Amino acid sequence: MKEECKKNKDVIILGIESSCDDTSAAIIRNGFLLSNVIASQAVHSAYGGVVPELASRAHQQNIIPTVSEAIKRAGVQKEDISAIAYTRGPGLIGSLLVGNSFAKGFATALNIPMVEVNHLQAHVLAHFIQEEGEEAHLPEFPFLCLLVSGGNSQIILVNAYDDMQIVGQTIDDAAGEAFDKCAKVLGGPYPGGPFIDKLAKEGDATAFTFSKPHIAGFDYSFSGLKTSFMYSIRDQLAENPNFIEERKADLAASIQKTVVDVLMDKLLKASRHYGIKRVAVAGGVSANSALRGAYQAYAQQYGWEIFLPKFSYTTDNAAMIAITALFKYKDGLFDSIDSVPFSKVVI
Ligand code: KG4
Repeated sequence: MKEECKKNKDVIILGIESSCDDTSAAIIRNGFLLSNVIASQAVHSAYGGVVPELASRAHQQNIIPTVSEAIKRAGVQKEDISAIAYTRGPGLIGSLLVGNSFAKGFATALNIPMVEVNHLQAHVLAHFIQEEGEEAHLPEFPFLCLLVSGGNSQIILVNAYDDMQIVGQTIDDAAGEAFDKCAKVLGGPYPGGPFIDKLAKEGDATAFTFSKPHIAGFDYSFSGLKTSFMYSIRDQLAENPNFIEERKADLAASIQKTVVDVLMDKLLKASRHYGIKRVAVAGGVSANSALRGAYQAYAQQYGWEIFLPKFSYTTDNAAMIAITALFKYKDGLFDSIDSVPFSKVVI
């Protein structure tokens, strides 16, 4: 096998991400990122959300140019690649099948191993991506990671790269979903998180209060919050039809503060319970400036060592797939040629 010949050489991994609506390919060498190319799909914006059928087709169109570009930017030859990693799940099944099938073809053609990667695990392990010329700040195990995206809000106890325990999660909507739905009410685009974030900078976060959920343990709930937001706006609109337009920034700042407070309260509770002060954040919502600000404040107040990902690693990307695969590659955990993707959320 070719992998035998490469034993004493650099470990170069090509990562592929295709779980939702971003086609991404990345190359890492010995844990250092050489390239990370992302082809986003504009086709969904007209529909206010991702259309699975269109996403699969766009992945089909994008996958080869994206991989070629990643290899070119990395300055490597495809024959140098030690293994190909791909997102096996969770995600949209049609989208995942594109990455899975591509990985099989590539691995077979080059006679290299294939590594399957869990998308959620990869978001957490994105903190281990290193870049040439930058000082590394990698979390030591164990640490806690708040994984917040459009589909997930979880507190994960990370004991090792392959030992992650979900200690808290949303029982209904995810935090990103709450941002998206509230943004829609304010007339914003999809996804709405960046819109709320930007608007909130000009607003007063204490202008409005929304009822916070009371859920046991470390679990979250955001559906009530979203309803409280919508009802209070409905009541105000009855008296003033221009209410949204006039108070948009205050509404955005207030709902953002409430979501961030809810996320941080449970995280602090978990940190105290497990006696862990190394705390990371991952997923699309980790781009939120108020959430990042809260992490900085908690670091000061509670002595946390915090890990905030670069903006390019907060959304879906193949660099996180490649770095996760490096852990597995070192342990010889390769995928079989007949493996199929999974759509459900597991970690
Ligand atoms: O992880 P992600 O890119 O995709 C999946 O959910 O799979 O997360 C997308 C979510 C969306 O709900 C989006 O509104 C939210 O992340 N988001 C933000 C910000 N940027 C993206 N939420 C709040 N503030 C942001 N700056």
